[in-house]
Amino acid sequence: MNFDKIRQDFPILNKVTYLDSACMSLKPIQVIDKINEYYKEYPGCGGRGMHSISKKVDEEVLNARKEIQKLLNIKKEDQIVFSKNTTESLNLVYNGLKINGGIITTDKEHNSNLVPVIRLCKKNGLKHTTIGSKDGIFDLEEFKEKMNRDVKLVSMVHTSNLDGSTIPAKEIIKIAHENGALTMLDGAQSAPHKEIDLKKLDVDLFACSGHKMLGPTGIGMLYGKEEILDKMEQFILGGETVTNSTYNSYEIEKVPNRFEAGLQHYSGIIGFGEACRYLRKVGMDNIVKQELKVNQIIDDGLRNIEGVSILGPEDVGLRPGITSFNYKNKDVHQIALLLDHSKKIMMRSGQHCVHSWFNKHNIKGSVRASLYLYNNEEDANKLVDGFKQVTKILG
Ligand SMILES: Cc1ncc(COP(=O)(O)O)c(C=O)c1O
Repeated sequence: MNFDKIRQDFPILNKVTYLDSACMSLKPIQVIDKINEYYKEYPGCGGRGMHSISKKVDEEVLNARKEIQKLLNIKKEDQIVFSKNTTESLNLVYNGLKINGGIITTDKEHNSNLVPVIRLCKKNGLKHTTIGSKDGIFDLEEFKEKMNRDVKLVSMVHTSNLDGSTIPAKEIIKIAHENGALTMLDGAQSAPHKEIDLKKLDVDLFACSGHKMLGPTGIGMLYGKEEILDKMEQFILGGETVTNSTYNSYEIEKVPNRFEAGLQHYSGIIGFGEACRYLRKVGMDNIVKQELKVNQIIDDGLRNIEGVSILGPEDVGLRPGITSFNYKNKDVHQIALLLDHSKKIMMRSGQHCVHSWFNKHNIKGSVRASLYLYNNEEDANKLVDGFKQVTKILG
């Protein structure tokens, strides 16, 4: 795979070193062109019109669903519900699914998959259990000990945005199912970076964000097994969620339309489809290899600097897309600002919406380099060299 050529699809890389893809990925020109195509050629609404512009939107939305279906290996495209982002997809489940028992999460949940669980458990008197990690790696033994038939949902972050580590999802799902629990994965950081086969994984629900996987901002999706989506209640009702209404009744639409209320983010959906097409063309295995190659340089370089501590598993192969680190007890925001102002290196600093983990470990935050297919060795060397200069300023 020619990654130099791929890099040329992302025009902003001529101006900056971008190492914040876990937050927001860049968009290739092919996706930008597809979004423009919608606004220039068929800027109408889908789902309700008989005219040709509306029909074209329907056709393109269906094509997008099919692209996502192919990328994630989903049985039927109707199992994809469009949402604003991973957060909305997860909240749709917590608000729509009846959960009559305990919920298990990891110790590294993003607030998107922690806060709704805390609220739901408090409201309904459910038990919430958190599984810890050992040396940054999910503690499968602890999970086996704590899993029992009172648990009704195992809902976990697939790949952590905090340190880039991935949980053994297939094994976890199997154990959860043997105990009669449903499973959900927060795939915000896994879907962009690794091959996801939802049929093989056998997970019941899976959420991800298009904007972290080369798609436009403000688009995401929820995947669900048919029988689960069928019994889930809507979270928002309105246009296109019903087939008929009287002054005191309504007939609900089929899945997924019943969950996609009101006019949709058509350019976002269509751009998301194009992003999935692009990812499939490059190949998820090639993407992981490229990220790991670049991350190895970052890891080696930073480890050699006295005072640097890296979060998560020591083996960079277990966190190919992310290096999250601290330097002595220095202010992480200051480090990120210095790297931007002196070297135009864009990195996230802080607690990355995983406050709970930082509170538990009594760490103020971290600086995070998060990679994607457009990063190269030059970016890695720039970061290591730039950071060495920053340490001279910080002492
Ligand atoms: C692991 C994880 N889950 C959920 C989210 C929330 O994603 P979004 O803001 O697109 O809803 C993020 C965003 O960084 C994330 O990294």
